[in-house]
Amino acid sequence: MANITTRPVTKLGIVGAGSVGTSLAYAAIIRDTAREIAIYDIDAVKAEAESLDLAHGTQFTGANTVTGGGNIEALAGSDVIVITAGARQQPGQSRLDLAGTNVRILESLMPQLMEQAPDAVYIQVTNPADVLAVAAQKIGGLPRNRIFSSGTVLDTSRLRLLLAREAHVLMTSVHATIIGEHGDSEFPVWSNATIGPVPIREWQVSGRQVFTDEFLAAATHDVINAAYRVIEGKGATNYAIGLAGVRIVEAVLNAENAVLPVSATLAGEYGIRGVALSLPSIVGHNGVYKMLEMPLDDAEKNKLMDSAETLRKTLDSLGI
Ligand code: 2OP
Repeated sequence: MANITTRPVTKLGIVGAGSVGTSLAYAAIIRDTAREIAIYDIDAVKAEAESLDLAHGTQFTGANTVTGGGNIEALAGSDVIVITAGARQQPGQSRLDLAGTNVRILESLMPQLMEQAPDAVYIQVTNPADVLAVAAQKIGGLPRNRIFSSGTVLDTSRLRLLLAREAHVLMTSVHATIIGEHGDSEFPVWSNATIGPVPIREWQVSGRQVFTDEFLAAATHDVINAAYRVIEGKGATNYAIGLAGVRIVEAVLNAENAVLPVSATLAGEYGIRGVALSLPSIVGHNGVYKMLEMPLDDAEKNKLMDSAETLRKTLDSLGI
C-alpha cells in the first residue's frame, strides 16, 4: 500500500479571540483557507473555549485543525498572522481615537510574534489599521511587503454591495474601489468605476442615468458611516471583516497575486512616503508585491493627499 500523504500544511495564526478574530477563524474553516488555525489571546480561557467550539465543527468543514490558548508559542511557524487584538471602537469613537492604546499593545506584542513566526506575512486588522501597520512594521523591523493592513478591502465590499443592488448585477461585476484611510477620509475612485465595462455615470435603465452625482455622494456617505451604523446597533463589526480578512489571507497562502485594496507603507506612490493607506495592490505569497498607481482626477488626488495628511498627523502625534 502506498503511504498516506497529506496536503502541505499551511498555518494561519490569529491574535485575538474576540469577535473579529473568531469570525475570521470561522470564515477560514468554512472556506478551508488554511490547514492549521491557531488562535492566541492573553485571555487563555476565552481562546481555549473559542478554539474548542470551532474545532468541534470541523467534521463539517475541510481538514482543518483549530487550536488556541494563552501561550503565544501556539503561533509558532505560522505562514500568515492576522492581528485583531486591541481596544475597539465604542459608539461615537473614530478609529483614530484608538491609536495610542493599540500602539502600546503592539509594542509588547510584535517582538514576541517575530520570535514565533519570523518569516510570516503579517496582516493588521486592529484599528486604526493604517496607523498600526506602520507601527508594527517599525517595531517588527519588517520589510513593507510583509506587514500591511486589511485597509479598504471591507469598505470596497460595502461600496460594491450598494452599487450592485442599484444596478441589479452581481457584486463581482462591479469594479469600484475605495482608497485612502480605512476611516473617515477614505473615498471611492468614481473616475474609473465601472459596472461590467460601462463607466458608472453612463449606466442607464430605460434611458435614465442611474448613478447620478446625488446617488454617488449618498453612497460615499453610507460607506464611510457603515461601521458606525453597525457599531451603534450591535457594538462591533465582525462577520464582514472576518470574511474580508480571510480573502486577503487566501491571496497570500494561495500565492494568488490578486489585486486588493490593502494598506502598506507607501514608498513614493503618488509622491507619498512613510504613511500606510490603501491602494489597489498585488497580494501574493510574499505579501504586497506592488501598490498600483491608477489615474486619478484632480479632486481624487486632493482627497488622497488629505487622507495621507490625516494619517501623517496621527503618526506624528504618536512619535512614529
Ligand atoms: C469596520 O470598518 C470597525 O474598522 C471596522 O468594520
